Amino acid sequence: MSLLPSTYVVDIADSVGETVRLAGWVYHKTEKGKLVFIQLRDGTGVIQCVVFKKNVSEDVFERAKQLTQESSLYVTGTVRADERSALGFEIDVSDIEVVDLANEYPITPKEHGTQFLMEHRHLWVRSSKQHALLRIRAEVIAAAQEYLNSEHFVRYDTPLLTATAAEGTTNLFATDYFDLGKAYLAQTGQLYVESGMSTFGRVYCFGPTFRAEKSKTRRHLTEFWMIEPEVAFADQDDNMELQENFVAYIVQRVLDRCGEALKVLERDTASLEQVVPPFPRMSYDEAVERIQQAVREGVTVPPEDQPLPSIEWGEDFGAPHETFLASLNQKPVFIYNYPTVVKAFYMQPAEGRPEVVRCADLLAPEGYGEIIGGSQRIHDPQLLEQRIREHGLNLEDYQWYVDLRRYGTVPHAGFGMGIERCTAWIAGTHHIRETIPFPRQLYRLYP
Ligand code: 4AD
Ligand code: MG
Repeated sequence: MSLLPSTYVVDIADSVGETVRLAGWVYHKTEKGKLVFIQLRDGTGVIQCVVFKKNVSEDVFERAKQLTQESSLYVTGTVRADERSALGFEIDVSDIEVVDLANEYPITPKEHGTQFLMEHRHLWVRSSKQHALLRIRAEVIAAAQEYLNSEHFVRYDTPLLTATAAEGTTNLFATDYFDLGKAYLAQTGQLYVESGMSTFGRVYCFGPTFRAEKSKTRRHLTEFWMIEPEVAFADQDDNMELQENFVAYIVQRVLDRCGEALKVLERDTASLEQVVPPFPRMSYDEAVERIQQAVREGVTVPPEDQPLPSIEWGEDFGAPHETFLASLNQKPVFIYNYPTVVKAFYMQPAEGRPEVVRCADLLAPEGYGEIIGGSQRIHDPQLLEQRIREHGLNLEDYQWYVDLRRYGTVPHAGFGMGIERCTAWIAGTHHIRETIPFPRQLYRLYP
């Protein structure tokens, strides 16, 4: 015996005129005299099921009337094409089997505050907008991996419990690790994935990463997912080319396969259609000049038309700066060659200009900020050791990492794309917290 339905809403067009048995939950229900309309949600889509008193037994009609929001059930009926319905198809119901008559559901079609919805995140994920966002997230992940797999990259998993810092020491989550002292949750898989670079030439790691950031912005989570490709015999120019092809592929895949979800979110897809290589590139030097000029002209930036804060060469950009820089283009933009002082220890200095490093941040349009951070890595062991010391890190802890430069070192480069930032941009949703089933934030650990 099987408990599965005979088909799913997403495939319903194949069953026009046939009798099907669907399984799902009541998204909505309305009654009108001899009719009960059930919006049945089966996870793959929502379909209107029409229960007409004349077509069913009295018992079935009563059951239909008693259904509450989110009750689980099987619906049997005939599939009818109907141009008036949003989906283009409806079910003329002949039978209903209730699995569970749901208790009064806390999330109703009325407006709820964010706080309330976040407290009920485990249920909120069933709502159409959340369903759409998480559908797009899944497509971003699938597309990212498929692109890399098809380009000869090999997935190479890196540890989440680590002994050292990779992206600064100020935002580490620490935990006691038996007799070995402290372990830290990985901020990135990069250092480890670099070892795989020498094994496979082209590798990527993909998994959760952790940053104990005390920032409450709409772009920050304390736990986020990152995909990090690493390429042997590659410089920063190769790196940017890979990134633009990678991002363009992901956007196109979402446009191709998530049309329904994008519609639910009312995403303007015209701007996404333009995301084709090449992406514009602007040096950090020029970016600073453009910002300084904009400050003199009194330029303001969304969301609240705040004046652009001024910046000096050598400082990192804030969110308003990134929003301004991204607004100069329709496509994502690379800002490259940042000052050495604001970036990680492992980045390759630019030739003849050690005050800047061969790196780039990819800024998404429309104020979504940095979606990718990437760089060419130092491949000279002495220089790497010097940089580790300059950053006040314990050289002993990084011997294995320097070893990677002692046995057949090669120029190599890579990057990390945050899944949630990328999803927020493509889906056009304001806050990153809705792009992951259970966001971990400064003030949120439940549910
Ligand atoms: O720029 P980041 O810190 O780069 C790295 O971690 C490198 N090791 C990556 C590499 O070269 N392999 O982070 C990369 C990306 C950012 O561009 C952003 O998309 C995301 O990770 N990210 C965050 N997303 C959500 N919340 C946070 N707190 C994030 N911090 C970084
Ligand atoms: Mg970064």
